[in-house]
Amino acid sequence: MNSITLLQPQKIVFGEGSMKELSKDAILEHANRILFLVATPLLSNVRELVKNIHFKNKEIHLVEYKFLGEPTFSQFETLLKENEGFNPEVVIGVGGGSVLDCAKLLAALINNSQKLTEVVGIGFLNGRKIKLICVPTTSGTGSEVSPNAILLNEETQAKSGIISPYLVPDACYLDPLLTMGLPPKLTAETGIDALSHCIEAYTNKFAHPTVDVYALQGIQLISENLLKAYNNGNDVEARSALLLGSMYGGLCLGPVNTSAVHALSYGLGGKFHIAHGLSNAILMPEVLRFNLSANPKRHAEVARALGITLDGTDEEIALAGIEKIEALSKACNIPQRLTQIGVTEAVLPELADIAMNVTRLLKNNPREVTREDAINIYKKLL
Ligand SMILES: [Fe+2]
Repeated sequence: MNSITLLQPQKIVFGEGSMKELSKDAILEHANRILFLVATPLLSNVRELVKNIHFKNKEIHLVEYKFLGEPTFSQFETLLKENEGFNPEVVIGVGGGSVLDCAKLLAALINNSQKLTEVVGIGFLNGRKIKLICVPTTSGTGSEVSPNAILLNEETQAKSGIISPYLVPDACYLDPLLTMGLPPKLTAETGIDALSHCIEAYTNKFAHPTVDVYALQGIQLISENLLKAYNNGNDVEARSALLLGSMYGGLCLGPVNTSAVHALSYGLGGKFHIAHGLSNAILMPEVLRFNLSANPKRHAEVARALGITLDGTDEEIALAGIEKIEALSKACNIPQRLTQIGVTEAVLPELADIAMNVTRLLKNNPREVTREDAINIYKKLL
């Protein structure tokens, strides 16, 4: 068995209403200046929390996260500049993946001699002095437990990953009640993104038994509950299962990470500003069909976790699993074709070029993906 290093937050609090527990966190007790970066819909929740007695005599700076879509380098730089003067001892992100990613980078880069451009890539960050707490409000990125943050480079229109053990938060609070207000479309897209994290980790060239358990459990939880939460956003059990499944997906990201679905999705996000979960949802079935021959057994095991009970060969079981993902995606009214989101044949070579540059993920794919393969996968989805 290969060796592997698992990095996780020191404290993971999960449960309905668990955000209230945040006010008693030991990290806050020992800090005087606390910066909250908060998604707009959660502002009232955070204001309520801030009123709590435990925050008395502390300086609290509440920043509303206002960027739309993937945050860009310059947007983050502005955020950084605006908040450096406050010099927080703790940064707390409350929101979806983009909010958490920016909170993670703020904690790492506020009053740090390293510049943003110096830390893009894997392992360039020298450290983090500011404590970091993440509170997710969507069930998708798993950023609350992962070492990843993604920004959009507006000059190249490419998404760039900042990956570092120092971006793993010190603590995270997963409160399913905070995800109750998420609209059905976002529930579906973020849910499929989380599902793709688990599937791409399990079928990964570098899959590992320590991560397989998270991946399989995440696949099962998401496949059993996504449609329930899509149809009834107030189904707290389904919301809880999705949030847990998404956290399991996040735990897969650090040690194993994703592969070709995410790599082929980069151009759709960067160039066409297609939501991350949506582009992954469109790409995933076709990429899995392409990958299947490289490891039929693993793909069949994914299908089993998705609830497929069919008897047959590994290939047959795996294909039934892929069809189940398509059916789930359709039932959630997610578009199935690239043409439905404005992508035409003329741009496929450019999309493939962008994907080919995402070597940090492509190297994980169970089957080698050439530029021509990438174009063929996109073509099948027109
Ligand atoms: Fe993702």
